[in-house]
Amino acid sequence: MPSSEELFRESSRLFPGGVNSPVRRFDPYPLFMSRAKGSNLIDTEGRAYIDYCLGFGPMILGHGHPELRKALQKQVDAGVLFGTPSELEITLAKKIRSSVTSIEEMRFTNSGTEATMHALRLARAYTGRNLILKFEGGYHGSHDYSLIRSGSGALNFGSPSSPGIPSQVSSTVLVGRYNHLGTLERLFLNHGKDIAAVILEPVMGNAGLILPDAEFLKYLRQMASDYGALLIFDEVITGYRFRYGAFQDMVGIRPDITVLGKIIGGGLPIGLFGGRTDIMELVSPHGDVYEAGTFSANPLSMTAGIATLSTLEKADYGKLSHMLGELVTGFSDVMQTTGVPFTINSLVSAFQIFFGTDKVNTYDDAMKSQKGKYMEIFLGLLKKGIYMAPGQYETNFISFAHDDEDIARTVYALREMIHAG
Ligand SMILES: Cc1ncc(COP(=O)(O)O)c(C=O)c1O
Repeated sequence: MPSSEELFRESSRLFPGGVNSPVRRFDPYPLFMSRAKGSNLIDTEGRAYIDYCLGFGPMILGHGHPELRKALQKQVDAGVLFGTPSELEITLAKKIRSSVTSIEEMRFTNSGTEATMHALRLARAYTGRNLILKFEGGYHGSHDYSLIRSGSGALNFGSPSSPGIPSQVSSTVLVGRYNHLGTLERLFLNHGKDIAAVILEPVMGNAGLILPDAEFLKYLRQMASDYGALLIFDEVITGYRFRYGAFQDMVGIRPDITVLGKIIGGGLPIGLFGGRTDIMELVSPHGDVYEAGTFSANPLSMTAGIATLSTLEKADYGKLSHMLGELVTGFSDVMQTTGVPFTINSLVSAFQIFFGTDKVNTYDDAMKSQKGKYMEIFLGLLKKGIYMAPGQYETNFISFAHDDEDIARTVYALREMIHAG
């Protein structure tokens, strides 16, 4: 089998930067995997890696879960695309509705990107307003309304974070600061009555992992209600990651629209937006807000989703918390011996480590961390057969396929690496 280095040379002539999603790329070249099993990825040369990236979140059961494989193999025989409704979508939707209290009706899409894009259009149509409030460092997919960052100076309006996005788009997006109530008050005062939707990741997973202050989410719920804006929770990462259901029910906050993705598709492409019936009824063909997709609710994604949620329904998330606790303690013990300041943010089955700082509670804190140090650790661990998320601003995950031995081996690898120097 060709090596990753050889394959990367070839892929660089076919794909911009040699990859099909920029987050997969790291220097000197990304690893090309050919198989995955349990907690392991296996590269083209047969080397195994304990996987903490887990497909950027979806693979909470680990790779090649037997129930999932069996269900998918059966569905391949039964048909992969009908272009009609199927009972599978009802089965998956019922599981979701019974485990996420704010979702009364929903629509499946093929990705989280599509789902947030349609959720924003729906909120604008429902409220008859144009402005969106998002948060610096929050990622909602790669469409134009998501790729907006803070504007200059004290301006509340954002600016495009990619060329090719018209300023007419960014002028409809306000950018707030996560966990910063002080700055939000003025923003609502100035623009509140024009805001259609407040969209956020309730736990930030795309600036590393950042947890919400207790008051922050409550405040946003209150302000959205007071000003007549819809509150959209983007739970593409957080849905079914910490419990069987969404993060919102862990903290008792009911958004108007919820976006899900990743885990609900068990590793196949998926997204979903859903919420109150009076809002969702505006979606076509019941209503006029257009949304469509050739592959939406396709039988394979639905099947993988059903198998995944059926397994998770019976799973003990406490097992994940326990393993994560061991990993965080082990990492902390090793790092303490180095004298390098660090902090690890973690929740149930998700974590990220930041260097050069002892607290990351905001996007600004995350930006100040030493991402070069993170990549140094990432590459060092990679050599020892550990595949962490390949970027400081991603989140690491553990799955039900991980075990205590994986955790011990990972801590041991870090210790060896640090002591070697
Ligand atoms: C919070 C969040 N929303 C939306 C998306 C976009 O999902 P997708 O990559 O399926 O388009 C992502 C992807 O990482 C995400 O993390």
